Amino acid sequence: MKTLKTFLVITTILILMFSCKQTNMVKPSTFISLKNNFQDDFYIGAAINENQILEKDSVVTALISKEFNSITAENIMKSMYIHPAKDSFAFNLTDKYVAFGEKHGMYIHGHTLIWHSQLAAWFADIKDSTEMVLAMEKHIKTIVDKYKGKIDSWDVVNEALNEDGTLRKSAFLESVGEDYLAFAFKWASDTDSKADLYYNDYNMTNLNKRNGAIKMIEKIQDKGIKIDGVGMQGHWNLKTPSIKDIEESIIAYSKLGLKVAITELDITVLPNPKDLVGAEVSQGFEGSEKMNPYAKGLPDSIQTKLAQRYRDIFKLFLKHKDKISRVTFWGVSDGQSWLNGWPIKGRTNYPLVFDRELKPKQAYDSIMALTSKN
Ligand code: XIL
Repeated sequence: MKTLKTFLVITTILILMFSCKQTNMVKPSTFISLKNNFQDDFYIGAAINENQILEKDSVVTALISKEFNSITAENIMKSMYIHPAKDSFAFNLTDKYVAFGEKHGMYIHGHTLIWHSQLAAWFADIKDSTEMVLAMEKHIKTIVDKYKGKIDSWDVVNEALNEDGTLRKSAFLESVGEDYLAFAFKWASDTDSKADLYYNDYNMTNLNKRNGAIKMIEKIQDKGIKIDGVGMQGHWNLKTPSIKDIEESIIAYSKLGLKVAITELDITVLPNPKDLVGAEVSQGFEGSEKMNPYAKGLPDSIQTKLAQRYRDIFKLFLKHKDKISRVTFWGVSDGQSWLNGWPIKGRTNYPLVFDRELKPKQAYDSIMALTSKN
């Protein structure tokens, strides 16, 4: 009996010693994170919503501060929220957003100053050119000045282009003409010369749009006005755009002497309504199983495809890390993604690298494995 007791004690001590040694060898889990993994390459950001800014859920806050070193405001800096009436700005939430970034030592991005969408109604109603110039100038200068030295970079203009590379008929273009673009960048740089100023858009990998973007940016540069970067929104899917198109675009924008940021990364796994009914998005598909095939969970095969796609994309980003300043996911976890509600409401999508329970997905592991840091 005594021998058995001695044996058990010795075995327990040995097991404890061994497991401690093992623990010492493994990096503490707080070290393993997206931001640490890519710390020598580019910032890793997330778009955060109002609840996240207000730190409503401490588990979510902990995840954001552990994994990301940059933030973008998903909605609260858009004109309808930050400048709801001609003579009043609403800085309550945006102050909290900036404080969140400062508290967690993050690179803080401002999204977005001039955008035709989620545009304050009073802004959209302006038809007169002088009135629009004055309104835009006040909008840009007031907001940029308020966060001067705190917000590191701005999407000065968002989505000014059509798919064929021509300028979109927005309230700004209609009233001021194409000079509104150069004005916007000038007012922003006059107000905070140190912030990085970006042009941001989707489908920036499409050849016609890319050529249009390049032409538009060169015109701004030719006027001697400061523009620092191009934001390529990464609202992509499992197949398109091709790695080749993404690569050619990163190189083309970088050749303008600009930084390239991947600004709104999410990879949809759901069918695109356009594939089924030509160019028309039929509301009839809402709620149909065909358009919402993974409501009960994502099959392993698709989970793997998503992980492979994320791996291919990040491999390319690493190859061009000298050109890429920041990679920002459009959201933190699948449950919160705007892609559950767009372009069809009420679907279950899986576009990010954290699942609905905030657990890292296979896609997370696949990008983490690309560096030798873990
Ligand atoms: C989206 C937000 O994620 C949604 O919550 C909102 O309802 C609509 O806008 N391009 C952009 C982003 O520049 O601001 C958009 O964000 C997504 C497309």
